[in-house]
Amino acid sequence: MADTIRRIGVLTGGGDCPGLNAVIRAAVKTAINEYDWEVLGIEDGFEGLIQPGKVRPLTAADVRGILPRGGTILGTTNRANPFHYEVETDAGVAVFDVSDDVVRHAQVLGIDALIVIGGDGSLRIAHELMQKGLKVVGVPKTIDNDLQGTVVTFGFDTAVNTAMEALDKLHTTAESHHRVIILELMGRDAGWIALKAGIAGGADVILIPEIPYDIEVVADKINTRNRRGAKFSIVVVAEGAKPVGGEAVYQAERQVGGERRLGGIGETLAVQLKGHCEAEVRVTVLGHLQRGGSPSAFDRLLATRFGAVAVHLVAQGKLGHMVALQDERIISVSIADAVAAQKFVPLDSDILLTAFGLDICLGNSRQVIEEMQAGG
Ligand code: F6P
Repeated sequence: MADTIRRIGVLTGGGDCPGLNAVIRAAVKTAINEYDWEVLGIEDGFEGLIQPGKVRPLTAADVRGILPRGGTILGTTNRANPFHYEVETDAGVAVFDVSDDVVRHAQVLGIDALIVIGGDGSLRIAHELMQKGLKVVGVPKTIDNDLQGTVVTFGFDTAVNTAMEALDKLHTTAESHHRVIILELMGRDAGWIALKAGIAGGADVILIPEIPYDIEVVADKINTRNRRGAKFSIVVVAEGAKPVGGEAVYQAERQVGGERRLGGIGETLAVQLKGHCEAEVRVTVLGHLQRGGSPSAFDRLLATRFGAVAVHLVAQGKLGHMVALQDERIISVSIADAVAAQKFVPLDSDILLTAFGLDICLGNSRQVIEEMQAGG
Protein backbone atom coordinates (compact mmCIF):
# COMPACT_ATOMS: atom_id res chain seq x y z
CA MET A 1 0.00 0.00 0.00
CA ALA A 2 2.83 2.40 0.93
CA ASP A 3 3.97 2.50 -2.74
CA THR A 4 0.57 3.62 -4.00
CA ILE A 5 0.45 6.63 -1.68
CA ARG A 6 2.02 9.95 -2.59
CA ARG A 7 0.01 12.42 -0.61
CA ILE A 8 -2.06 12.24 2.56
CA GLY A 9 -4.40 14.74 4.17
CA VAL A 10 -4.77 15.51 7.88
CA LEU A 11 -7.69 17.21 9.59
CA THR A 12 -8.85 17.87 13.14
CA GLY A 13 -12.61 17.79 13.76
CA GLY A 14 -14.98 18.36 16.70
CA GLY A 15 -14.08 20.15 19.93
CA ASP A 16 -10.38 20.85 20.34
CA CYS A 17 -8.30 19.25 23.07
CA PRO A 18 -4.70 19.36 24.29
CA GLY A 19 -2.47 17.12 22.15
CA LEU A 20 -3.94 17.75 18.68
CA ASN A 21 -0.81 19.56 17.55
CA ALA A 22 1.34 16.73 18.86
CA VAL A 23 -0.58 14.30 16.61
CA ILE A 24 -0.24 16.60 13.59
CA ARG A 25 3.49 17.02 14.20
CA ALA A 26 4.12 13.28 14.58
CA ALA A 27 2.03 12.42 11.51
CA VAL A 28 3.79 15.00 9.32
CA LYS A 29 7.28 13.99 10.45
CA THR A 30 6.60 10.26 10.11
CA ALA A 31 5.00 10.65 6.67
CA ILE A 32 8.00 12.62 5.42
CA ASN A 33 10.82 10.77 7.18
CA GLU A 34 9.58 7.20 6.80
CA TYR A 35 7.66 7.31 3.52
CA ASP A 36 8.61 10.49 1.69
CA TRP A 37 4.91 11.40 1.33
CA GLU A 38 3.50 14.89 0.98
CA VAL A 39 1.06 16.04 3.64
CA LEU A 40 -1.84 18.44 3.15
CA GLY A 41 -3.34 20.14 6.20
CA ILE A 42 -7.11 20.63 5.93
CA GLU A 43 -8.46 23.55 7.92
CA ASP A 44 -11.49 23.56 10.21
CA GLY A 45 -12.38 19.88 10.10
CA PHE A 46 -14.52 18.68 7.19
CA GLU A 47 -15.35 22.31 6.43
CA GLY A 48 -11.93 22.39 4.76
CA LEU A 49 -13.11 19.82 2.21
CA ILE A 50 -16.44 21.57 1.69
CA GLN A 51 -15.32 25.16 1.22
CA PRO A 52 -12.52 26.15 -1.17
CA GLY A 53 -9.18 27.65 -0.10
CA LYS A 54 -8.84 25.81 3.19
CA VAL A 55 -6.04 23.36 2.37
CA ARG A 56 -2.30 23.94 2.73
CA PRO A 57 0.85 21.82 2.52
CA LEU A 58 2.42 20.84 5.83
CA THR A 59 6.19 20.48 5.91
CA ALA A 60 8.55 19.70 8.77
CA ALA A 61 9.06 23.46 9.16
CA ASP A 62 5.31 24.00 9.55
CA VAL A 63 5.13 21.70 12.56
CA ARG A 64 8.28 22.92 14.27
CA GLY A 65 7.64 24.08 17.84
CA ILE A 66 3.98 23.01 18.04
CA LEU A 67 4.41 20.02 20.39
CA PRO A 68 3.62 21.96 23.60
CA ARG A 69 0.91 24.12 22.06
CA GLY A 70 -2.76 23.57 22.96
CA GLY A 71 -5.49 23.84 20.33
CA THR A 72 -4.87 22.88 16.72
CA ILE A 73 -2.87 24.74 14.08
CA LEU A 74 -5.42 23.48 11.53
CA GLY A 75 -8.47 24.90 13.28
CA THR A 76 -11.54 22.80 13.99
CA THR A 77 -15.31 22.94 14.16
CA ASN A 78 -18.08 20.77 15.53
CA ARG A 79 -20.54 22.13 12.99
CA ALA A 80 -19.50 20.72 9.60
CA ASN A 81 -21.12 17.36 9.01
CA PRO A 82 -20.99 16.83 5.20
CA PHE A 83 -23.97 14.47 5.40
CA HIS A 84 -26.06 17.07 7.21
CA TYR A 85 -24.56 20.41 6.29
CA GLU A 86 -26.66 23.23 7.70
CA VAL A 87 -26.62 26.63 6.04
CA GLU A 88 -28.44 29.69 7.31
CA THR A 89 -30.54 31.29 4.56
CA ASP A 90 -33.09 34.11 4.54
CA ALA A 91 -35.79 31.47 4.52
CA GLY A 92 -34.33 29.66 7.55
CA VAL A 93 -31.85 26.84 7.95
CA ALA A 94 -31.33 24.65 4.87
CA VAL A 95 -29.75 21.19 5.14
CA PHE A 96 -27.62 19.66 2.36
CA ASP A 97 -25.78 16.38 1.84
CA VAL A 98 -22.40 17.49 0.46
CA SER A 99 -20.59 14.21 1.13
CA ASP A 100 -20.06 13.45 -2.59
CA ASP A 101 -18.46 16.89 -2.99
CA VAL A 102 -16.11 16.13 -0.11
CA VAL A 103 -14.96 12.85 -1.69
CA ARG A 104 -14.54 14.56 -5.08
CA HIS A 105 -12.66 17.48 -3.53
CA ALA A 106 -10.23 15.08 -1.84
CA GLN A 107 -9.66 13.31 -5.16
CA VAL A 108 -9.01 16.59 -6.98
CA LEU A 109 -6.47 17.49 -4.29
CA GLY A 110 -4.70 14.15 -4.92
CA ILE A 111 -5.28 12.95 -1.36
CA ASP A 112 -4.64 9.20 -1.38
CA ALA A 113 -5.64 8.77 2.26
CA LEU A 114 -7.01 11.03 4.97
CA ILE A 115 -6.09 10.99 8.66
CA VAL A 116 -9.09 12.18 10.67
CA ILE A 117 -8.28 13.26 14.21
CA GLY A 118 -11.62 13.49 15.99
CA GLY A 119 -14.13 12.31 18.56
CA ASP A 120 -17.08 10.03 17.92
CA GLY A 121 -18.86 12.56 15.68
CA SER A 122 -15.91 13.15 13.32
CA LEU A 123 -14.97 9.47 13.28
CA ARG A 124 -18.55 8.50 12.42
CA ILE A 125 -18.42 10.92 9.48
CA ALA A 126 -15.03 9.47 8.48
CA HIS A 127 -16.52 5.99 8.53
CA GLU A 128 -19.44 7.06 6.31
CA LEU A 129 -17.07 8.82 3.87
CA MET A 130 -15.09 5.60 3.70
CA GLN A 131 -18.23 3.87 2.37
CA LYS A 132 -18.18 6.47 -0.41
CA GLY A 133 -14.63 5.66 -1.41
CA LEU A 134 -12.53 8.04 0.68
CA LYS A 135 -9.62 6.18 2.30
CA VAL A 136 -9.48 7.11 5.98
CA VAL A 137 -7.56 6.29 9.15
CA GLY A 138 -8.78 7.66 12.48
CA VAL A 139 -7.09 9.10 15.55
CA PRO A 140 -9.39 9.26 18.59
CA LYS A 141 -9.38 12.51 20.56
CA THR A 142 -11.62 13.92 23.25
CA ILE A 143 -11.23 15.25 26.75
CA ASP A 144 -14.38 13.27 27.60
CA ASN A 145 -12.65 9.86 27.24
CA ASP A 146 -15.95 8.39 26.07
CA LEU A 147 -14.68 6.54 22.98
CA GLN A 148 -14.78 2.74 22.83
CA GLY A 149 -11.81 0.71 21.71
CA THR A 150 -9.10 2.71 23.43
CA VAL A 151 -8.29 2.68 27.13
CA VAL A 152 -7.91 6.43 27.05
CA THR A 153 -7.94 9.33 24.59
CA PHE A 154 -5.33 12.10 24.63
CA GLY A 155 -6.56 15.39 26.08
CA PHE A 156 -8.27 13.61 28.95
CA ASP A 157 -5.25 13.59 31.24
CA THR A 158 -4.65 17.32 30.77
CA ALA A 159 -8.32 18.09 31.39
CA VAL A 160 -8.30 16.03 34.59
CA ASN A 161 -5.17 17.85 35.77
CA THR A 162 -6.73 21.23 35.06
CA ALA A 163 -9.85 20.24 37.00
CA MET A 164 -7.75 18.88 39.87
CA GLU A 165 -5.83 22.16 40.13
CA ALA A 166 -9.14 24.03 40.23
CA LEU A 167 -10.29 21.76 43.06
CA ASP A 168 -7.12 22.44 45.04
CA LYS A 169 -7.84 26.17 44.77
CA LEU A 170 -11.53 25.82 45.58
CA HIS A 171 -10.67 23.86 48.72
CA THR A 172 -8.85 26.77 50.35
CA THR A 173 -11.59 29.32 49.70
CA ALA A 174 -14.39 26.87 50.62
CA GLU A 175 -12.68 26.05 53.90
CA SER A 176 -12.00 29.68 54.79
CA HIS A 177 -15.62 30.72 54.21
CA HIS A 178 -17.25 27.51 55.52
CA ARG A 179 -19.02 27.10 52.20
CA VAL A 180 -20.19 24.38 49.90
CA ILE A 181 -18.54 24.88 46.53
CA ILE A 182 -19.88 23.07 43.50
CA LEU A 183 -17.53 22.58 40.55
CA GLU A 184 -19.27 21.76 37.25
CA LEU A 185 -17.07 19.82 34.85
CA MET A 186 -17.41 18.75 31.20
CA GLY A 187 -17.65 15.22 29.85
CA ARG A 188 -20.99 15.11 28.02
CA ASP A 189 -22.91 11.97 29.02
CA ALA A 190 -19.91 10.26 30.62
CA GLY A 191 -18.55 10.90 34.10
CA TRP A 192 -14.86 10.18 33.49
CA ILE A 193 -13.51 13.71 34.01
CA ALA A 194 -15.65 14.34 37.09
CA LEU A 195 -14.87 10.99 38.69
CA LYS A 196 -11.11 11.03 38.17
CA ALA A 197 -10.62 14.74 38.87
CA GLY A 198 -12.95 14.49 41.86
CA ILE A 199 -10.91 11.72 43.45
CA ALA A 200 -7.55 13.30 42.55
CA GLY A 201 -8.79 16.63 43.93
CA GLY A 202 -10.26 15.23 47.17
CA ALA A 203 -13.93 16.05 46.51
CA ASP A 204 -16.52 15.08 49.11
CA VAL A 205 -19.32 14.51 46.61
CA ILE A 206 -18.96 13.40 42.97
CA LEU A 207 -22.04 13.30 40.77
CA ILE A 208 -21.77 11.56 37.39
CA PRO A 209 -24.36 10.87 34.67
CA GLU A 210 -24.05 7.12 35.17
CA ILE A 211 -25.48 7.41 38.74
CA PRO A 212 -28.61 9.61 38.98
CA TYR A 213 -28.37 11.49 42.27
CA ASP A 214 -30.78 11.74 45.19
CA ILE A 215 -30.58 15.27 46.57
CA GLU A 216 -31.33 14.05 50.10
CA VAL A 217 -28.32 11.72 50.02
CA VAL A 218 -26.10 14.57 48.81
CA ALA A 219 -27.45 16.98 51.45
CA ASP A 220 -27.05 14.36 54.15
CA LYS A 221 -23.37 13.98 53.28
CA ILE A 222 -22.82 17.76 53.54
CA ASN A 223 -24.81 18.07 56.79
CA THR A 224 -22.94 15.14 58.34
CA ARG A 225 -19.61 16.76 57.51
CA ASN A 226 -20.81 19.98 59.14
CA ARG A 227 -21.91 18.18 62.28
CA ARG A 228 -18.54 16.46 62.50
CA GLY A 229 -16.67 19.75 62.30
CA ALA A 230 -15.66 19.95 58.63
CA LYS A 231 -17.60 23.11 57.91
CA PHE A 232 -17.09 23.08 54.16
CA SER A 233 -17.70 20.65 51.32
CA ILE A 234 -16.51 20.29 47.76
CA VAL A 235 -19.01 18.92 45.28
CA VAL A 236 -17.97 17.90 41.76
CA VAL A 237 -20.79 17.57 39.26
CA ALA A 238 -20.43 16.33 35.68
CA GLU A 239 -22.32 18.47 33.16
CA GLY A 240 -24.42 15.44 32.16
CA ALA A 241 -25.44 14.49 35.73
CA LYS A 242 -29.14 14.31 36.55
CA PRO A 243 -31.33 13.64 39.59
CA VAL A 244 -33.19 10.38 39.99
CA GLY A 245 -36.19 10.55 37.67
CA GLY A 246 -35.00 13.90 36.26
CA GLU A 247 -33.34 15.21 33.12
CA ALA A 248 -29.90 16.57 32.28
CA VAL A 249 -29.64 20.37 32.04
CA TYR A 250 -28.97 21.96 28.66
CA GLN A 251 -27.97 25.47 27.67
CA ALA A 252 -30.61 27.49 25.86
CA GLU A 253 -30.29 27.15 22.12
CA ARG A 254 -28.64 24.79 19.69
CA GLN A 255 -26.51 26.69 17.18
CA VAL A 256 -26.84 26.06 13.44
CA GLY A 257 -25.00 22.85 12.54
CA GLY A 258 -24.13 22.16 16.16
CA GLU A 259 -25.34 19.80 18.86
CA ARG A 260 -27.42 20.62 21.93
CA ARG A 261 -24.98 21.79 24.59
CA LEU A 262 -25.06 20.56 28.16
CA GLY A 263 -24.49 23.08 30.95
CA GLY A 264 -26.14 24.52 34.05
CA ILE A 265 -26.43 21.51 36.35
CA GLY A 266 -24.16 23.26 38.90
CA GLU A 267 -26.65 26.11 39.42
CA THR A 268 -29.60 23.70 39.41
CA LEU A 269 -27.91 21.62 42.09
CA ALA A 270 -27.19 24.72 44.18
CA VAL A 271 -30.89 25.63 44.15
CA GLN A 272 -31.86 22.07 45.05
CA LEU A 273 -29.37 22.02 47.94
CA LYS A 274 -30.67 25.27 49.43
CA GLY A 275 -33.77 23.56 50.73
CA HIS A 276 -31.75 20.86 52.41
CA CYS A 277 -28.59 22.43 53.91
CA GLU A 278 -27.75 25.46 56.01
CA ALA A 279 -24.41 26.15 54.36
CA GLU A 280 -23.79 28.90 51.83
CA VAL A 281 -23.39 27.45 48.35
CA ARG A 282 -21.28 28.80 45.47
CA VAL A 283 -20.90 27.42 41.95
CA THR A 284 -17.88 27.41 39.64
CA VAL A 285 -18.20 26.24 36.02
CA LEU A 286 -14.76 25.29 34.73
CA GLY A 287 -15.94 25.16 31.10
CA HIS A 288 -13.50 25.44 28.24
CA LEU A 289 -10.49 25.87 30.51
CA GLN A 290 -10.58 22.06 30.50
CA ARG A 291 -9.94 22.01 26.77
CA GLY A 292 -7.21 24.62 26.62
CA GLY A 293 -3.54 24.87 27.41
CA SER A 294 -0.44 22.81 26.94
CA PRO A 295 -0.84 19.00 26.95
CA SER A 296 0.53 17.02 29.88
CA ALA A 297 3.52 14.72 29.33
CA PHE A 298 1.12 11.76 29.19
CA ASP A 299 -1.01 13.40 26.49
CA ARG A 300 1.99 14.57 24.44
CA LEU A 301 3.40 11.07 24.39
CA LEU A 302 0.09 9.35 23.62
CA ALA A 303 -0.75 11.89 20.90
CA THR A 304 2.71 11.52 19.36
CA ARG A 305 2.45 7.74 19.33
CA PHE A 306 -1.06 7.95 17.85
CA GLY A 307 0.11 10.32 15.08
CA ALA A 308 3.06 8.14 14.10
CA VAL A 309 1.12 4.87 14.14
CA ALA A 310 -1.76 6.41 12.15
CA VAL A 311 0.70 7.02 9.31
CA HIS A 312 1.97 3.44 9.55
CA LEU A 313 -1.65 2.20 9.38
CA VAL A 314 -2.10 4.13 6.12
CA ALA A 315 1.07 2.49 4.78
CA GLN A 316 -0.19 -0.95 5.82
CA GLY A 317 -3.55 -0.34 4.13
CA LYS A 318 -5.46 -0.55 7.41
CA LEU A 319 -8.11 1.80 6.14
CA GLY A 320 -11.29 2.31 8.13
CA HIS A 321 -9.29 1.69 11.31
CA MET A 322 -8.25 3.99 14.11
CA VAL A 323 -5.30 3.89 16.45
CA ALA A 324 -6.03 2.92 20.05
CA LEU A 325 -4.21 2.29 23.32
CA GLN A 326 -4.62 -1.21 24.77
CA ASP A 327 -2.33 -2.89 27.30
CA GLU A 328 0.39 -0.25 26.89
CA ARG A 329 0.52 -0.81 23.12
CA ILE A 330 -0.83 1.23 20.25
CA ILE A 331 -3.02 -1.05 18.17
CA SER A 332 -5.68 -0.54 15.51
CA VAL A 333 -9.41 -1.12 15.89
CA SER A 334 -12.18 -0.68 13.36
CA ILE A 335 -13.71 2.79 13.40
CA ALA A 336 -17.16 1.21 13.02
CA ASP A 337 -16.68 -0.75 16.27
CA ALA A 338 -15.24 2.25 18.11
CA VAL A 339 -18.19 4.53 17.34
CA ALA A 340 -20.87 1.88 17.84
CA ALA A 341 -21.42 2.96 21.45
CA GLN A 342 -20.10 5.46 23.98
CA LYS A 343 -17.79 4.36 26.79
CA PHE A 344 -19.35 5.13 30.16
CA VAL A 345 -17.98 4.66 33.69
CA PRO A 346 -18.82 1.03 34.52
CA LEU A 347 -20.61 0.69 37.84
CA ASP A 348 -18.31 -2.18 38.82
CA SER A 349 -15.24 0.05 38.34
CA ASP A 350 -12.61 -0.27 41.06
CA ILE A 351 -12.57 3.53 41.14
CA LEU A 352 -16.11 3.51 42.51
CA LEU A 353 -15.02 1.00 45.12
CA THR A 354 -12.17 3.32 46.05
CA ALA A 355 -14.64 6.19 46.36
CA PHE A 356 -16.82 4.14 48.73
CA GLY A 357 -13.77 3.36 50.87
CA LEU A 358 -12.97 7.07 51.13
CA ASP A 359 -16.60 7.84 52.07
CA ILE A 360 -17.04 9.98 48.98
CA CYS A 361 -20.73 10.50 48.23
CA LEU A 362 -21.56 9.36 44.68
CA GLY A 363 -25.05 10.79 44.78
CA ASN A 364 -26.87 7.74 45.96
CA SER A 365 -26.55 5.09 48.66
CA ARG A 366 -24.07 2.31 48.11
CA GLN A 367 -26.91 -0.18 48.23
CA VAL A 368 -28.79 1.58 45.41
CA ILE A 369 -25.61 1.81 43.32
CA GLU A 370 -24.89 -1.88 43.85
CA GLU A 371 -28.48 -2.72 42.87
CA MET A 372 -28.06 -0.62 39.71
CA GLN A 373 -24.86 -2.51 38.99
CA ALA A 374 -26.52 -5.88 39.54
CA GLY A 375 -29.38 -4.82 37.28
CA GLY A 376 -26.88 -4.10 34.49
O1 F6P B 1 -16.71 16.83 23.74
C1 F6P B 1 -15.89 17.79 24.34
C2 F6P B 1 -16.69 18.85 25.01
O2 F6P B 1 -15.80 19.75 25.62
C3 F6P B 1 -17.73 18.34 26.00
O3 F6P B 1 -17.16 17.96 27.22
C4 F6P B 1 -18.66 19.51 26.06
O4 F6P B 1 -19.97 19.11 26.40
C5 F6P B 1 -18.65 20.02 24.65
O5 F6P B 1 -17.45 19.59 24.06
C6 F6P B 1 -18.74 21.53 24.54
O6 F6P B 1 -18.75 21.86 23.18
P1 F6P B 1 -18.63 23.33 22.60
O7 F6P B 1 -17.28 23.40 21.95
O8 F6P B 1 -19.72 23.38 21.57
O9 F6P B 1 -18.78 24.32 23.70
